[in-house]
Amino acid sequence: MSQSGRVYLDWNATTPPLPAVVDAMHEAALAAWGNPASIHGEGRAARRYVEDARIAIAELASADPRDVVLTSGGTEANNLALRTAFASTRRREDGLLVVSPLEHPSVTRVAEALAEEGRATLRWLAVLPDGTIDLDDLDRALAEADSAAVSARLVAVQAVNHETGAVLPVVDIAARAFARGARVHVDAVQAWGKVPMSGINEPGAVATRSLAGHKIRGPKGIGAVILAPQGKLVPVLRGGAQERGLRPGTVDPVACAGLAVAARHARGGDERLARVRPLRDELVAGLVALDPSCTCVRPPSWAPHVANVAFDRLDGPEMVAALDLEGIAIASGSACSAGTNEPSAGITAMLGKERARRSLRLSLGEDTTAADIATALSAFAKVLAR
Ligand SMILES: Cc1ncc(COP(=O)(O)O)c(C=O)c1O
Repeated sequence: MSQSGRVYLDWNATTPPLPAVVDAMHEAALAAWGNPASIHGEGRAARRYVEDARIAIAELASADPRDVVLTSGGTEANNLALRTAFASTRRREDGLLVVSPLEHPSVTRVAEALAEEGRATLRWLAVLPDGTIDLDDLDRALAEADSAAVSARLVAVQAVNHETGAVLPVVDIAARAFARGARVHVDAVQAWGKVPMSGINEPGAVATRSLAGHKIRGPKGIGAVILAPQGKLVPVLRGGAQERGLRPGTVDPVACAGLAVAARHARGGDERLARVRPLRDELVAGLVALDPSCTCVRPPSWAPHVANVAFDRLDGPEMVAALDLEGIAIASGSACSAGTNEPSAGITAMLGKERARRSLRLSLGEDTTAADIATALSAFAKVLAR
């Protein structure tokens, strides 16, 4: 429970920054206000923070620091990765882009844009009610475009789903894709520091991976795209030579100072987070005990900290508002679609629109305690009784 007495169960929307992250940013704000591209002392002082963040991400991702390109966050990293794959296609028939509706909008919206621009044929994958994708359908999608005329193929898949905590079989997906000459982009934004990454982190296992600082207890507005060895990126923005021209624009050394601390903290984070699995399970069991109409998505491989639940006849956003008044922060749908009334496309694809409208996402973090779960359950009891 935070000092304010509130219980924060929305760690997938964003994570509270680590105190050490705040301290590092405070120090950098005073010491590293120079432009990291300048060659004088002030510039060099700032640049040290930028390069340290790059090294910390490389260590987390088992990559070469030269293959880490800093971005403004996960959204930009996903945009860059998808657009790179179709930078040289000119006709819809030249490219195949395979994605599922489970992906975050920073993947699905770009995929739709690429199709509208006539750069690729967009092939949606079938999803299963347990929150995973249909691997037979993936094989079919790749086989459908098994023609020499298709010059670029990309499968974009997330490592961990932001709404259900489903851990997608990325290594298996990559093997199937490579067998058909397709590259793979992994949106790993919700995976770093949460689940073991060894398979995904093998050098060259996938073409590109994305990361966002604020999902790993670092600052917002910074993230990275991590390339496979010898991987190429095609810039979306045009401008100066920052990030070797791949992502022009002055890099923020203060955000980098925080990101470096967060990335180092995320190493081994999966082992720390494993502790909350029993708390998450207790929370779900408690909700079912309060109201037997409560259902929960239980993916076959399930990250320890997320539960996507729904109660009969209870609207998700209304429940979020009622629980907020009781001091509990949770989400309905994905955080990024908060503020719109559209139910999540991912949950709709899995279980239909009605279930999506009732969805509540509870996401725990490494600081969540048994007392938090007890407090949350009492608040749910009050709200459900009304
Ligand atoms: C799976 C996933 N990908 C990408 C993003 C976007 O990251 P950012 O907020 O840094 O743009 C999010 C944010 O919620 C996410 O959950």
